[in-house]
Amino acid sequence: MTAFSLSLKRLFFQAQNDILTLMEERIITPQATNEEAVFEANLRPQTLAEYIGQAKVKEPLAIFMQAAQKRQEALDHLLLYGPPGLGKTTLAYLIAKEMGVGLKITSGPAIERAGDLAAILTNLNPGDVLFIDEIHRLPKVIEEVLYPAMEEHALDIVIGKGPAARTLRLELPKITIIGATTRYYMLSAPLRDRFGTTFRLDYYTAPEIAQIIKRSAGILGIEIASEAAQALAERSRLTPRIANRLLKRVRDYVQVKGDGVINQDLTHQALKMFQVDDLGLDEIDRRILEVIIEKFKGGPVGLNSIGAAVSEEEGTIEEIYEPYLMQLGLLTRTPRGRMVTENAYRHLGLKVPGELQKNLI
Ligand SMILES: Nc1ncnc2c1ncn2[C@@H]1O[C@H](COP(=O)(O)OP(=O)(O)OP(=O)(O)O)[C@@H](O)[C@H]1O
Ligand SMILES: [Mg+2]
Repeated sequence: MTAFSLSLKRLFFQAQNDILTLMEERIITPQATNEEAVFEANLRPQTLAEYIGQAKVKEPLAIFMQAAQKRQEALDHLLLYGPPGLGKTTLAYLIAKEMGVGLKITSGPAIERAGDLAAILTNLNPGDVLFIDEIHRLPKVIEEVLYPAMEEHALDIVIGKGPAARTLRLELPKITIIGATTRYYMLSAPLRDRFGTTFRLDYYTAPEIAQIIKRSAGILGIEIASEAAQALAERSRLTPRIANRLLKRVRDYVQVKGDGVINQDLTHQALKMFQVDDLGLDEIDRRILEVIIEKFKGGPVGLNSIGAAVSEEEGTIEEIYEPYLMQLGLLTRTPRGRMVTENAYRHLGLKVPGELQKNLI
């Protein structure tokens, strides 16, 4: 390879790294960034009482946990689903803690062979929780090993090959499997059916997010004015992970520009610098709306066309951007594709087209 092509290659990798860094720096991504794990672990509520919001999940869960404890049995298998950053992993941790049992954490893509799962399952104690994150990415063959483990507390091991193959059944301790996914629809029906309970985590309300921000500020030793917490809450996409991240970034800003106390003014200044608008939208969200309006006359338009126009993957738009835009009522899903709403025009400061107004009357 010549020196020229080597340096070209280096340039290419550099550019690729720069793009990756840029992507990682998107301040309002609901996905956890690499360096966030420790920060998040410190802020995780340890008990159900500390876990703010999600009453529809917390109330039945508290009853199931008490009942299982009274019977001295393992909790039923539990499936948690919902957008990233809403508290699925947090819930799994605190369930194990409140039940006073051991917790083993793994994820769908981490279990590659049946033997990996067998090793995990045989090492658990009765009542323990096995948390399988991203359970929609569990390979099909592993799923089949999981079925008897979930239903009959047994592991079927095939010994040998061909006509001489035999199945050996291994008894397992009664344990609880907690599965988490952001993509419920990608789970196979037989797997879904094996969970005794399924909970969907929903976006929080702004007052709940404000409460989460105040709690986190307390843990981090940050002073924050009530109005500032509220302003941050309104721009956190109703997602605790984003709320905590914004709090941390605004704290940095305030330590440099102010006296360390987070007030409303400094919060607004900081958010402006981060290019997060009044609804918590960033450049990419706004570009998605603009593209649909400018290039596709407001829609309906397919996800693939939107993806191509904003240079994002279809799956990313569907999982990361779209849910919040829909939650805000800026975008709707129709059988023929995505459409912006009247509110989207207003939010971008554009005139609402006459025909759209007519449709809405
Ligand atoms: N109900 C809550 N009350 C207080 N803080 C919360 C709550 N839910 C989540 N958090 C905070 O938000 C952060 C992200 O939550 P968590 O990691 O549980 O999300 P997740 O749903 O597992 O996301 P992902 O889909 O990316 O795995 C946690 O660090 C936690 O501090
Ligand atoms: Mg998680």
